[in-house]
Amino acid sequence: TIARVQGREILDSRGNPTVEVDVELSSGHTGRMMVPSGASTGRFEAWELRDGDMNRYRGKGVSKAVAHVNSELAEAIVGQNAFDQELIDRMMISLDGTSNKSRLGANAILGISFAVARAAANAEEKPLYRYLANRYLTGGASLNIPLPMVNIISGGLHAGKKLDVQDFLAVPVGADTYPRALEMLSSVYWKTQEIINERGYVGWLLADEGGFGPSLQSNEEALELLVSAIERAGLRPGEDMAIALDIASSHFYDPGKDTYELQSEGRTLHAGDMIDVLERWCGLYPIVSIEDGLAEDDWNGWRELTLRLGGKLQLVGDDLFTTNPDRIRKGIDGKAANSVLVKMNQIGTLTETVEAVNLAKSAGFSTVISARSGETEDATLADLAVGLAGGQIKIGSLARSSRLSKYNQLLRIGEQLGGAYIGRAALRR
Ligand code: PGA
Ligand code: ZN
Repeated sequence: TIARVQGREILDSRGNPTVEVDVELSSGHTGRMMVPSGASTGRFEAWELRDGDMNRYRGKGVSKAVAHVNSELAEAIVGQNAFDQELIDRMMISLDGTSNKSRLGANAILGISFAVARAAANAEEKPLYRYLANRYLTGGASLNIPLPMVNIISGGLHAGKKLDVQDFLAVPVGADTYPRALEMLSSVYWKTQEIINERGYVGWLLADEGGFGPSLQSNEEALELLVSAIERAGLRPGEDMAIALDIASSHFYDPGKDTYELQSEGRTLHAGDMIDVLERWCGLYPIVSIEDGLAEDDWNGWRELTLRLGGKLQLVGDDLFTTNPDRIRKGIDGKAANSVLVKMNQIGTLTETVEAVNLAKSAGFSTVISARSGETEDATLADLAVGLAGGQIKIGSLARSSRLSKYNQLLRIGEQLGGAYIGRAALRR
């Protein structure tokens, strides 16, 4: 049984406050969770409760959320069985009483939800990924390390908005082991820096997720630069190392005019033209996956995008779905997207995260288990991706410990799994 719940305000990778929760069981076993935080958030995400008191941490304090952990939520949870994850999550959801967890805060609820799971895993003396797999994967599913998609160049809200596209990522499709994938990715990362500096841009400063954030001339220059870096690393673009994009287009979509404002191209586009642009890029560069190619509420556009490009490309919904089973169901029924980005704090509990993953899989959608741009040294994400057989993982770049804590945890888990690695099979198209 849960004996104690302790929340506290800590700082994340951007230096902003976030919630940390410790759960202690009567057996003495403990579990900790540090809650991540997004910057390019979707409109339909569960509510991250911040104080708004401009005298503390620029209004970003989380002392109210922490107070909810330590009072109302702790009172409800203490005495419960830590193995009753569903019951505990449902209790917190109904105690909150809102549809988006805005009263008690999704950051407060998520912290408890995952700290409970961690404590329960420790009580069983199992690694978290194993505990999750035993609980949530149907018999016999084999565990393996997911295929990473790794941020190399950042734009959008993570890097001063010079480039419209938020993430230019590398996908090591040719690697047959996870350690080899990391080695290839690292080589592309450093070759990218070399080329950025050679061309007179700034390669010394890093964006929120550890990628480079140079003021390139256009989105296509970033694509071309990434291909050059792959070649300079001695790899074959497409065969060894492919490209994924997170367009994060909700953030340059104008709902009033129903247009996409591509600033670095100086163009205003309707959904159909936007799809033309994406199709053109896919013809010129070895792109295997596009996330949020259209905006979070542009369901008609998404249907057209999926009809036109879904046969050959992974089309990932992030802001579109916000890990929300209701929205994922709408995408499945309406044939919008063919892949779900899974961010635990977009929905706010482990139980609902599992529901989102299972729903996606049941429809044949792939899943990408994802970090946020604001992270911590917590490596729970790595265990989650393996334990739910997520297939793919998106953590950010190969720099900064908020990112490496997860990549390194995957190395350890991989060792325990005898090197089992899903590789390019995760893309399934
Ligand atoms: P966020 O960005 O964590 O700032 O929302 C990540 C993403 O858009 O995938
Ligand atoms: Zn995204």
